[in-house]
Amino acid sequence: MLSRFSLAVSWGLFAIALSNATLLTRVADIPTNVAFDFIIVGGGNSGNVVANRLSANPNVKVLVLEAGPPGDDVLLSQVPFFCAELVAQSPYDWNYTTTTQSGLSGRSIPYPRGHLLGGSSATNWLVYTRGTAEDFNRYASVSGDSGWSWNSLLPYFKKSEKWTAPVDNHNTAGQFDPSLHGFNGEVGVSLSGEPTFIDGKVITATSQLGGDFAFNLDMNSGNELGLGWAQSTIKGGVRSSSATAYLAPQYLSRSNLYVVANAQVSRVISTSATLPVFRGVEFRDSAGGALKTLTATKEVILSAGAVGTPQILLNSGIGNTATLTGLGIVPRVSLPDVGENLSDHPVLSNYWYVNSTETFDDMRRQSNLLNDALQTWQTSKTGPLVNPILDHIGFARLKSPFVASPDTAAGPNSPHYEYIISNGGPPGPLPPTGHFITITTVLVSPSSRGSVKLRSSNPFDKPVIDPALLKTTWDKVAFREAIKGAEKFLSAPVFSGYVLGRVGAYANATTDAKLDAYIASSAGTLFHPVGTAVMSPKGASTGVVDPDLRVKKVTGLRIVDLSVVPFLPAGHTQAAAYAIAERASDLIKTAFGV
Ligand SMILES: Cc1cc2nc3c(=O)[nH]c(=O)nc-3n(C[C@H](O)[C@H](O)[C@H](O)COP(=O)(O)OP(=O)(O)OC[C@H]3O[C@@H](n4cnc5c(N)ncnc54)[C@H](O)[C@@H]3O)c2cc1C
Ligand SMILES: *[C@@H]1O[C@H](CO)[C@@H](O)[C@H](O)[C@H]1NC(C)=O
Ligand SMILES: *[C@@H]1O[C@H](CO)[C@@H](O)[C@H](O)[C@H]1NC(C)=O
Ligand SMILES: *[C@@H]1O[C@H](CO)[C@@H](O)[C@H](O)[C@H]1NC(C)=O
Ligand SMILES: *[C@@H]1O[C@H](CO)[C@@H](O)[C@H](O)[C@H]1NC(C)=O
Repeated sequence: MLSRFSLAVSWGLFAIALSNATLLTRVADIPTNVAFDFIIVGGGNSGNVVANRLSANPNVKVLVLEAGPPGDDVLLSQVPFFCAELVAQSPYDWNYTTTTQSGLSGRSIPYPRGHLLGGSSATNWLVYTRGTAEDFNRYASVSGDSGWSWNSLLPYFKKSEKWTAPVDNHNTAGQFDPSLHGFNGEVGVSLSGEPTFIDGKVITATSQLGGDFAFNLDMNSGNELGLGWAQSTIKGGVRSSSATAYLAPQYLSRSNLYVVANAQVSRVISTSATLPVFRGVEFRDSAGGALKTLTATKEVILSAGAVGTPQILLNSGIGNTATLTGLGIVPRVSLPDVGENLSDHPVLSNYWYVNSTETFDDMRRQSNLLNDALQTWQTSKTGPLVNPILDHIGFARLKSPFVASPDTAAGPNSPHYEYIISNGGPPGPLPPTGHFITITTVLVSPSSRGSVKLRSSNPFDKPVIDPALLKTTWDKVAFREAIKGAEKFLSAPVFSGYVLGRVGAYANATTDAKLDAYIASSAGTLFHPVGTAVMSPKGASTGVVDPDLRVKKVTGLRIVDLSVVPFLPAGHTQAAAYAIAERASDLIKTAFGV
């Protein structure tokens, strides 16, 4: 069903042309007479923040090399309701798949990563959650830098954010806490822009149940526990990404900022014969062609994401010396943690039949309804397509004996699992008939760790990605309990007569053993890889970057993306990427006095 609708709207068919002032699309177009102070590898969620902040100084020349296309005309990226459509193989994705996952009954699954300007912020599901205060305080404690604590980063969350009224201009009092938000930043963040039929029931359930499911006015306060209104990266009914926000025309037109799409980096290169001074970058047109190199006068910043960044480091001989030698790559710098400790969030959308036709299922199944909604969106940026596919989210802790020892959550006020409520069926193919409610469960504090490794010495080969989803026994048990938590939520009296019964494979999962089998056969990724180039204290023998994000043992090379995060935040990851990149920009400006 969904594929029919995807074809109907096809890539970019109803494009909005954004002005792209100094956006270059070929490596051959890069001027040869400019000395770039900073070269940023990856124009994604994090990289564009740094590009914007550094190029605010007109004396600083910044080059961004992004492997993907500009993607500024991609309807599926612009329309919030289509957010789940960008995971398929397309020019806007890297089309990765994982290794076979022991926790997923041996399946190997697609592993989407954005491949366009904006990176994964242009293909994600728009959910805006920062994580808990304890998450960031844990980063501060393991890195030995209080600058990564919640209190230190809160101003950076606000700096990146432009809180925006929802397009239906409904009264948002009681739906968020304005004191926690930034109103003058770059990335649009908003609440639902069109009411849905279940809004009232969901909020009623919070008061009927209380406890784990009590109403939380704003889960971006540092305390996520409870359930509340989802906040999404949307402005004026349209997705806000790091490209639409930080590379908006007024920034892209800066004469000292050069953004190059379709430029794929293979390696960073030492510019000294004797010392590890990695200010060189080797790259080519993504479609192929000759390799080219450029040198930054100040610093190279890797922002290629939790898959791309370790791949480039390993290609460059920075990693585990023995493994690199085995692949036929000359080792340059021994940093064995490169590519290790990959951590990701397992997810599963469970769904139930409901006694109503007021869900979004018919709109997804019937092209006339969808086309009407699309027309409304195109003419006024209103209507059902201004919402992503969810309106409420909640976070909860497991109880003894299900809490691991030591606890995998960052502290006693941080959740183990999340539940996301949608007024319709899950993403992907829908049954031909029926109307649904979906509760998507997420294990937000997993203990499993995986890796990103090279497949060969060819720097353009796809890496070997093992997110280790549900690998440990604790993760499996905790995930099962998370689904039981979702079921408990639907036991609120308000859902009686509305929620009718489980659908699909979930309907059969009537015992713990059957639940485990259902999870193993159906769970997937929430697309949140982190941890493949983690920060650790200066001078530590483990880790990849110092707390200022400079690569250890190396000069001229920094990492600014989610590879540096040593533990997953207990929530969706884009907000952390924005805040970390904002602080990193200040660290870089201070280091170079620019
Ligand atoms: C389908 C999907 C749904 C998601 N849903 C949500 C959500 O709802 N809410 C949320 O908070 N988070 C979500 N996430 C996660 C979130 O978007 C990411 O964690 C975050 O955007 C990562 O930021 P980053 O800067 O580390 O990497 P990215 O944004 O992925 O940026 C990396 C950039 O580097 C480029 N690149 C990589 N390798 C090279 C190379 N060799 N040469 C040149 N360029 C290169 C890539 O093309 C990309 O543009 C989702 C992610 C996906 C994929
Ligand atoms: C992903 O697959 C699509 C469709 O097959 C293709 O057009 C695109 O170039 C691929 N992406 C990459 C990065 O190779
Ligand atoms: C569905 O809802 C109607 C009223 O809205 C009610 O009469 C009916 O009993 C419900 N059906 C079920 C199966 O609960
Ligand atoms: C549920 O179990 C029944 C009986 O074992 C089986 O026929 C059916 O295919 C299962 N349904 C799903 C969706 O797995
Ligand atoms: C990587 O993960 C392992 C196991 O979880 C842990 O012991 C180690 O400290 C981690 N390494 C770093 C650098 O965080």
